[in-house]
Formats: sequence, C-alpha cells, structure tokens
Amino acid sequence: GRRVTTRDLLAAKQRGERWAMLTAYDARIAGVFDEAGIPVLLVGDSAADNHLGYDNTVPVTMDELLVLVKAVVRGTRRSLVVADLPFGSYQVSVAQALENATRFLKEGGAQAVKLEGGHRVLPQVEAMVEAGIPVMAHIGLTPQSVHVLGGYRVQGRGPEAAEQLLRDAKALEEAGAFAVVLELVPAELAQRITESLSIPTIGIGAGPHCDAQVLVWGDMAGLTPGKTPKFVKQYADVRSVLLGAARRFAEEVRDGVYPGEEHSYH
Ligand code: KIV
Ligand code: NA
Repeated sequence: GRRVTTRDLLAAKQRGERWAMLTAYDARIAGVFDEAGIPVLLVGDSAADNHLGYDNTVPVTMDELLVLVKAVVRGTRRSLVVADLPFGSYQVSVAQALENATRFLKEGGAQAVKLEGGHRVLPQVEAMVEAGIPVMAHIGLTPQSVHVLGGYRVQGRGPEAAEQLLRDAKALEEAGAFAVVLELVPAELAQRITESLSIPTIGIGAGPHCDAQVLVWGDMAGLTPGKTPKFVKQYADVRSVLLGAARRFAEEVRDGVYPGEEHSYH
C-alpha cells in the first residue's frame, strides 16, 4: 500500500468521514500507530516537552526535530507524516520558512509540514504551497506564542476573537493549506469554522464537530505524568504498565529470580 495523501484527506471531508491524528517522535511507536491505521502522524514540536525533556515547545530546534522526523518516516509505511516547524524556523522570513520546510521533506522524508499562526504566516504558507510543500496550519491556542498569550487558555472567546479566528481559517485555506488544526477553541466556533471550510479541521480541545481529532500520544496513552487538560481522553495506562514492569524487573534481579535457567546459555 501507498501512503495516505493530502488528497485522501480532502476526499474524506467530502464523504463526511472523520479521522484521527496522533503525534509520534520515534520509529517504534510510530510503527504501532501506522499498524493501527492512524492516517496522519505529526512529529510535533511537542517533542520538546513530551520526548526531549524541555519545559515547553520554544527551545526545540530544526536539527533536533529532523532526527525524529527521519525516525518516524522510517518506522511507517501508510501514515502521512507531518513535520512541525519549530519556533524560530519560519517567522523570520518567507525564505527561512521555505528553506526549513524543504529540509523536512528533502532530508527528513516527511510528506507535509505544519506551522502556527493566522494572517501573519500567510506569505509563508503561499510560498511553501507554491514550492510544492503541503502545509497544515494551526490556529487558536498556538503554544509557540505561550509567552505572548500568557498561558494555555481557550482562544476565540467573544464575537471579535471568534470572527478573527474564522477569518484566519478562511485565509489559510485560500493560501493553500490542506488542513487546519484548531487548538483550545469553543466547540460552537470550531463547528462554524469546520462548516465554512472545504479543507479538514483537526481539533484538539475544540469539541466534537471538527473533521478530525488530534492528541499528543503520551496524553492519549497515559504516559504523561500529572494532570492532563480536560480535553484529553486517556485510552491506556502505559505509565503504570512501564512502572510495574521496571519495578518487577529490578525486584527479580535483586532477589536472584531473573535470569532463570530458561534465560541462560550453557
Ligand atoms: O506539537 C503538537 O503536538 C501539536 C499538536 C497538538 C497539534 O502541534
Ligand atoms: Na506543535
């Protein structure tokens, strides 16, 4: 089988079919999601906190993400792999955006890139699409702007903010984006945007009316420690499973139970 394409995603919207996207940061986990039939995998800059141990997404670099993009591409056969342009890799100029997006496709092997922002990134989106690079947009809460937004809170509340988000979404579609992530926006607004666009919307904390839904894989699988946001549904308890396995292994080594005769060579 071939990989999923951006055309497949547009066709799914026309048929009214919903789909799921997950983040992935390494080949092994990506391979599991590929086998599960997840059509789109995002090598998110959320790798910063979820994979590389940073406090937020601001510090992660192109070079760091490129390693992960290559791994996810190598680990998958069917999923469309989207590489997330990190903070500072596309804001400086259209030329900078083109250069870095090109690296993700050419060196990384990704099939598309993602960037954050509305009106301010339209020139970048147009130029990338023109150059043959499929672009996923991302509006609402844009974590790379956390220091301007002053925290992680719901966006697009109130009529003016809502109209601005709708205008941004339409302008991004017009500029050639193949999909738009809506993060932390009221469900009613996400529905309005979804109905106003012919490209798919991908919700995260944006209610049930989007064409697709995305979650950070560690949140979805219960690997993330501590309290997760209200919008997260935890489908497994991977952290407990690993914690138990590591504790039992250590205990069996201490007690001389492992390795046993059956694990030994003579
Ligand atoms: O980096 C990321 O994981 C994301 C998704 C949550 C959309 O941008
Ligand atoms: Na991101």
